[in-house]
Amino acid sequence: MSLIPKEIVDQVIAQADITEVVGDFVSLKKKGQNMWACCPFHHEKSPSFSVSPAKGIYKCFGCGKAGNSVQFIMDIEGTSFPEAIKYLAKKYQIEVPEEQHDPEYAKEQSERDSLFIVSDFAAKHYVQRLHGHEQGSIGQSYLKQRGLSAATVKKFELGYSLDEWTDLTDTALKAGYKQQYLEATGLTIAREDGKKYDRFRGRVMFPIHNVSGRVVGFGARTLKSNDKKSPKYLNSPESEIYHKSNVLYGLFQAKQAMRMQDMCYMVEGYLDVLSLHQGGIENVVSSSGTSLTEGQIKLISRYTQNITVLYDGDAAGIKASLRGIDLILEQGLNVNVVTFPGGEDPDSYIQKVGDTAFKAYLQEHAQDFISFKTSLYAEEAAGNPVKKAEAIKEIVASISKIPDAIKRTVFFRSCSLIFDIDEQVLISEYNKLHLQGRQQQHKTGSPELDYAPPAPEEEPEKPASDADVLQRYEREIVRMLLNYPDRLLEDGLTTCQYMLEQLEDIEFRSPLYKRFVDVVSDKLNQGAVPVAEDFINYPDEQIRTEAIHLLSDPYELSPNWATHQIFVPHETDLLPYGTERAVLRLKFVYLKLMIDEETQKLKLVTDPQEQVNRLVAVMNLKKLHKQIGDMLGIVVF
Ligand code: CTP
Ligand code: MN
Repeated sequence: MSLIPKEIVDQVIAQADITEVVGDFVSLKKKGQNMWACCPFHHEKSPSFSVSPAKGIYKCFGCGKAGNSVQFIMDIEGTSFPEAIKYLAKKYQIEVPEEQHDPEYAKEQSERDSLFIVSDFAAKHYVQRLHGHEQGSIGQSYLKQRGLSAATVKKFELGYSLDEWTDLTDTALKAGYKQQYLEATGLTIAREDGKKYDRFRGRVMFPIHNVSGRVVGFGARTLKSNDKKSPKYLNSPESEIYHKSNVLYGLFQAKQAMRMQDMCYMVEGYLDVLSLHQGGIENVVSSSGTSLTEGQIKLISRYTQNITVLYDGDAAGIKASLRGIDLILEQGLNVNVVTFPGGEDPDSYIQKVGDTAFKAYLQEHAQDFISFKTSLYAEEAAGNPVKKAEAIKEIVASISKIPDAIKRTVFFRSCSLIFDIDEQVLISEYNKLHLQGRQQQHKTGSPELDYAPPAPEEEPEKPASDADVLQRYEREIVRMLLNYPDRLLEDGLTTCQYMLEQLEDIEFRSPLYKRFVDVVSDKLNQGAVPVAEDFINYPDEQIRTEAIHLLSDPYELSPNWATHQIFVPHETDLLPYGTERAVLRLKFVYLKLMIDEETQKLKLVTDPQEQVNRLVAVMNLKKLHKQIGDMLGIVVF
């Protein structure tokens, strides 16, 4: 277990609110007793990811991921248990004693943890250099000249790397950080001859955060305005924690506003994000100069389905990047576009006209993407039938990416108006494309189908072995123990007491369920009542995960049932009956297995007296088996 003191771990677990923790990563909507969202762990278009505030757990009925708050952070961040606890502690302002340099502690950390930790150190180092080192004033005056306020600099944790070869590397090594991780994050570069030097020197540093606010990499801008030798921006290389295709600059600072405004502004550069944010447009992110990826779009779609792309540059540049937008359409998001007057980018334009005029400009110039693309091509194609035909193909290709049929229809209509062409022509073009697409999809077997896939061939069902059946019944017992531990049954016993008493002589065969029963039994022996939380927060992951599966009930009764006055008995209404049946079923199969096993052993016995003894034992087992079968209404031969 973790070296973080147990009382702190307990406090964190007690204080962490599952809807708050998960809500930082996806937009949850209430439905029934639970909250729902599209699963952040696998790709899906309709929500099967549920959060139960009452039980403090999440579960995806699509991919099966499940757990409590701590598990969620471990899953989404890929970190270890102690790192997840630290994340939650920070969120809930619970103090965790620093133990970073304890070798035992270091052993527990995963490689990812180490990369996060060294990146965090570097970010703090660059901030310190900006504000607390004489060279930092160069960086400060640059940022000021770019119009950035102290608050923005602080909020985005901007920093400065000294114009020296090994400032970061030396400081980090001295502080005990490992060379290995400095290199893995790309902060330090090792030359062939073994010499080490800092990647970033004499630059303003823009730390890049992941969704939960951890530094995963850096962008770094040179201060020299026209130095042809070194690039304007240098970026961290890919690493285990920094996958460029899955990160958006500014998302951590933007996500709240994105959800509130139900809109995301996409810009190209770091400075665009900062200037807009400072101007009160906080729902802004940047893909940092690269074209948008599917992963980035999925990140955005956790918070909003509406994207407005702010383009700088000329028509040619815009055309080149239009393909990226098709990707957004394919994901079912709505796309608007705003362009800026010649030569301006969002940063320069907001600095020029001011916040208010800039916001008004966005309002007035936002255009839906299809109309934008149509106008762009229509202008060019005017009076040129060949170009016009090409243009129409282009646009129909974009429209065909839109998964929603109603939206497609609307766009066909507006496109037909702009081009002054019969809607039917567009639709038949679409059908041609669609047919091609289908055939291709068929060949490659892509799962992204627009039509229902053929039903998978059912595997011929294998009859379940007795051992399988036994395991299923053991699971059923444990499920009841977990869900209704202290419910009183008819004779004054609780579910736990009744079941454990009944199953006293039975050794559970499945090691996992045996452990559950042992824990329950220990608790009862100590005079305590076992509760679900004991298992949800159990140190062993296997136990935790199984507990959560056993506790989450996929069948939420529709509220209609109640309003239609249809009585549907809940399991708890029939608990005395249910627990009794569950115990009997388990005993029934258990005996069947024992009879088979004993019969097998009998064949190996040679001593006649021993044979007789064993035969009698088997007969007794059979009698018992038949008795229980009778109680269950099962005919035993
Ligand atoms: N970029 C990069 N490497 C470069 C140039 C650009 O990674 N050599 C990325 C950066 O994320 C940059 C974005 O592309 O923010 C847009 O580039 P550009 O338009 O050239 O820069 P601006 O954001 O306008 O930067 P500035 O205003 O500081 O000149
Ligand atoms: Mn710029």
